[in-house]
Amino acid sequence: MRETSSSRTGSVVLVGAGPGDPELLTLKAVRVLQSADVVLFDALVSDGVLDLVRREARCLAVGKRGGRASCRQQDINDLMVRLARRGKRVVRLKAGDPMIFGRAGEEIARLEAAGIPVEVVPGITAGLAAAAALGVSLTHRDHAHSVRFVTGHSKDGGLPKGLDWQGLADPETSLVFYMAGRTGAAVARRLIDAGLSQSTPVAAMASVSCPDETRWTGTLAALAAEGCPEAGDKPVLVGIGRVFARAVSRAEAEGRQSRTA
Ligand SMILES: C[S@@+](CC[C@H](N)C(=O)[O-])C[C@H]1O[C@@H](n2cnc3c(N)ncnc32)[C@H](O)[C@@H]1O
Repeated sequence: MRETSSSRTGSVVLVGAGPGDPELLTLKAVRVLQSADVVLFDALVSDGVLDLVRREARCLAVGKRGGRASCRQQDINDLMVRLARRGKRVVRLKAGDPMIFGRAGEEIARLEAAGIPVEVVPGITAGLAAAAALGVSLTHRDHAHSVRFVTGHSKDGGLPKGLDWQGLADPETSLVFYMAGRTGAAVARRLIDAGLSQSTPVAAMASVSCPDETRWTGTLAALAAEGCPEAGDKPVLVGIGRVFARAVSRAEAEGRQSRTA
């Protein structure tokens, strides 16, 4: 059933906050942040981005990180509807791009069902920011014909069920695993079992584009043996595929240790 809305209905804009560096925001994102009444932001949104929100706007943290309490998705959806019905210009500020592992689909569906105008301002997803930071072209025509963004984490904290490991183990596909900081070793083992070479280059990054950014490079065998190095509360991405050979050789040239197991 479609919910009705009052004549004072405001609007909701889902805004991509990018990976952390505020300079990676779009001009449109900044303009929307500067005209917001209320901003509901996720835990991975950086302070530098929040500094750009209109000073008079209310900023509400609704995200979860490292076991801290968070709002339920249902409550966030209800809150957006309530605020918009009061005529507020609501910004739903999400890390990276809202459409990549960001639950944007559920939020858009809820807002549309309530008759609330909703718009999306894209952001730079962490995988693309990592590729830029590493100087790696994910679709370098000599090494890869496709790129896949994959989740390394299911609701229960383990590997997602039903991933097509045979398809993922394609040597000419660049893989970018999100949310795989704790499942990196399991991901690597499944890919090796599915036939991907143990010497396939790997680059993992934490807190891409932030002052505390960290990088590791190595092989799939090393990832299977050791997993991702402990990154604490930082968000981690894992890139796997031939294109990451450049990140490995660059790290070695710069004197950083690569893991080969
Ligand atoms: C719920 S997903 C959100 C992804 C986000 N919508 C995007 O487009 O980047 C959270 C995961 O994104 C990745 N991530 C987000 N920001 C990151 C950053 N600055 N550095 C490394 N990984 C990041 C991590 O894998 C993290 O576990």
